[in-house]
Amino acid sequence: MAERFDVGVVGAGYVGLVTGACMAHIGHTVTCVDKNEGRIENLKRGKLPIYEPQLGEMIARNRKRIRFSTELHPLVREADIVFIAVDTPPGDDGAADLSNVAAVARGIGRSLSEVERERPLIVVNKSTVPVGSGDYVSMLIQEGAEEGPNGEVSYRVVSNPEFLREGSAVYDSLFPDRIVLGAEDREALHTMRELYRPIIEQSFATELDPRPTVAVPFVTTDLASAEMIKYAANAFLATKISFANEIANICERVGADVKSVTAGIGLDHRIGPRFLDAGIGWGGSCFPKDVRALMATAREHEYEPAILAAAVSVNERQRRLVITKLQRDLHTLKGKRVALLGLSFKPNTDDLREAPSLSIARILESRGARVVGYDPVAGKRAAALMPEMKVVFDPYEALKGANAAVLVTEWEELRNLDLERAATLMARPRLLVDGRNAIEPAAARAAGLIYQGFGRE
Ligand code: UDX
Repeated sequence: MAERFDVGVVGAGYVGLVTGACMAHIGHTVTCVDKNEGRIENLKRGKLPIYEPQLGEMIARNRKRIRFSTELHPLVREADIVFIAVDTPPGDDGAADLSNVAAVARGIGRSLSEVERERPLIVVNKSTVPVGSGDYVSMLIQEGAEEGPNGEVSYRVVSNPEFLREGSAVYDSLFPDRIVLGAEDREALHTMRELYRPIIEQSFATELDPRPTVAVPFVTTDLASAEMIKYAANAFLATKISFANEIANICERVGADVKSVTAGIGLDHRIGPRFLDAGIGWGGSCFPKDVRALMATAREHEYEPAILAAAVSVNERQRRLVITKLQRDLHTLKGKRVALLGLSFKPNTDDLREAPSLSIARILESRGARVVGYDPVAGKRAAALMPEMKVVFDPYEALKGANAAVLVTEWEELRNLDLERAATLMARPRLLVDGRNAIEPAAARAAGLIYQGFGRE
């Protein structure tokens, strides 16, 4: 029988809620704390602040083991383990802004100095923090404690980076490829292993099949290496995509098809087939931020990160390529109607952070095009962010009278667009720029559209 723990999660945002729901699902008792009262009230009523498939159901199903609160103090008194899962937005120089993490760490220190505990509190860093932050958090907890009545407090800091993807966060957290833990204290690592045991052994009850039958690898290391693993993983994946985009751009010039090329190289186990989809490039809340933060860290230490800089520059170029492709058949953009299909940075999320759709819409607007956007879930939010763009709630409405359409985000319903209907609704020259290589070129052409993909001319 696995041990049950009292788990606290500070930050009821994306990572915090998924972590909390997952911990409750595997049998622990969870308290999610957030300083935003409105958010906590909504959560108590079952209303989530984010869109994420299966998260609402998972919270509802484990509701008896999850509490929502705005108070940190009781959590520090009662919890065995506290996760810090607050956001670390990028500052002007690209480096992660740690002020939210710092405020929580100080708060934990202050509360610790006011309570009696039998065991040291394990404080787990789940937020993506720069390498070296584990020690910084530790120092801040101590500083916070010194402001309270009893400066002698006992705690252990652990780094536990998360690798979950938006849109499949619940699945990723229950069936991870690996669990990474960094700490200087062996006992804290042992407790964390017990906490994760149901996941490591895949022994929890679930209806979320298919589930892996093998045990989940568990990597233990020092604090700095655990922090670095998170950055290195995201930077590698972003670079892998930029590499595929570079190959696509070369394919286009030599008459090769990047889809066949990446399928061919992906079968080499050393390369692997995933994250080789060429197109508009990467966006979202993690890749852009983490790559920039890693570059900032490198430069702080007087190292010029050449490969990372190239990955970023290729990614920026991919967005501008959409404009070049549109101009090839539209000639001028002025007065042309362009439909953007899919606005969120990727399918199955309403997240618009660093979404290519927004920067493409801005360039198009600045060149005098009329932009109409459609997204199955992010439409309203996009309209609020970009009042210049007309947002409609039906893809065919967006296509009506459009001279060109850009498939920006490969939502399932957009992959399966009725191409003939699209061609009938659109105006000349009926150009489809497929930013995700998600549509069969032959089918698009047969329907009467001009088709342009990425790296598959
Ligand atoms: C990513 C990491 O995958 C995850 O491990 C980490 O915890 C957070 O960052 P996420 O940002 O949710 O997750 O999205 P992901 O599915 O990784 O896609 C990132 C971006 O890359 C998207 O804009 C996507 O459209 C793009 N992408 C992905 C490609 O352009 N080509 C690909 O082959 C794969």
